Amino acid sequence: MGSPAEKGFGQGSPELARWADGVFAPEDGVLREIRERSAAAGLPQIQVGRFDGLHLEVLARAAGARKAVEIGTLAGYSGVCLLRGMGEGGFLHTFEKEPRNAEVARQSFERAGLSGRVRIHLGAALERLRDIAGEGPFDLVFVDADKQRYPDYLAWAEEHLRLGGVILADNAFGFGHVHDAGYRGEDAGSVEPLRRFNERLARGGRFRATMIPTEEGLAMGVKVR
Ligand SMILES: C[S@@+](CC[C@H](N)C(=O)[O-])C[C@H]1O[C@@H](n2cnc3c(N)ncnc32)[C@H](O)[C@@H]1O
Repeated sequence: MGSPAEKGFGQGSPELARWADGVFAPEDGVLREIRERSAAAGLPQIQVGRFDGLHLEVLARAAGARKAVEIGTLAGYSGVCLLRGMGEGGFLHTFEKEPRNAEVARQSFERAGLSGRVRIHLGAALERLRDIAGEGPFDLVFVDADKQRYPDYLAWAEEHLRLGGVILADNAFGFGHVHDAGYRGEDAGSVEPLRRFNERLARGGRFRATMIPTEEGLAMGVKVR
């Protein structure tokens, strides 16, 4: 199934969603252009939804993040949101395995006027993350890439976030199946590791965690130990 291009909002009422869109204006022209250019370039339309992007910006701001890590760049949509939340002094390391996606993202950061505050690391994140281990501890880690590796990314965040640092992870509802241990559908290979990720985040003792009930589920934990 994967992520829908258009994400639901709140109670599922289209009228309520339109109202919230009008009041909070989650997507400006810069972000809309990224979404449209990414679609025109043939990239999969699996970036965060408009409100998810706003959540990321506001949460990064609330956390006072200055040094952040993003796993899963795609076209740079969520990266721009995180950087906006971090303000002038913020820096983002973002990891992407597909050269074509990284090139579209490079253009996105440039057009958003953020090129000097981001580094795109090309390659498999779990290997490339080693390159920045010495630059930690980090204030925020956003996980939005291969679901099978979420438990590994959580383990990395446990070691490399500062105390009080924040982990955010998209798709934590496992495409609606994370609660169902008997699920055997097409996303089964992603759902089981996502379940382990949530259980370790919630009960592993390193984070105080919650689930923000977006359409995809945005898990959030603050490192306490
Ligand atoms: C859901 S998209 C990220 C969307 C992006 N965070 C946004 O909202 O704008 C997932 C991205 O992770 C990348 N990816 C998947 N597995 C990866 C891996 N092992 N290492 C690095 N990137 C990976 C994919 O190529 C894809 O671009």
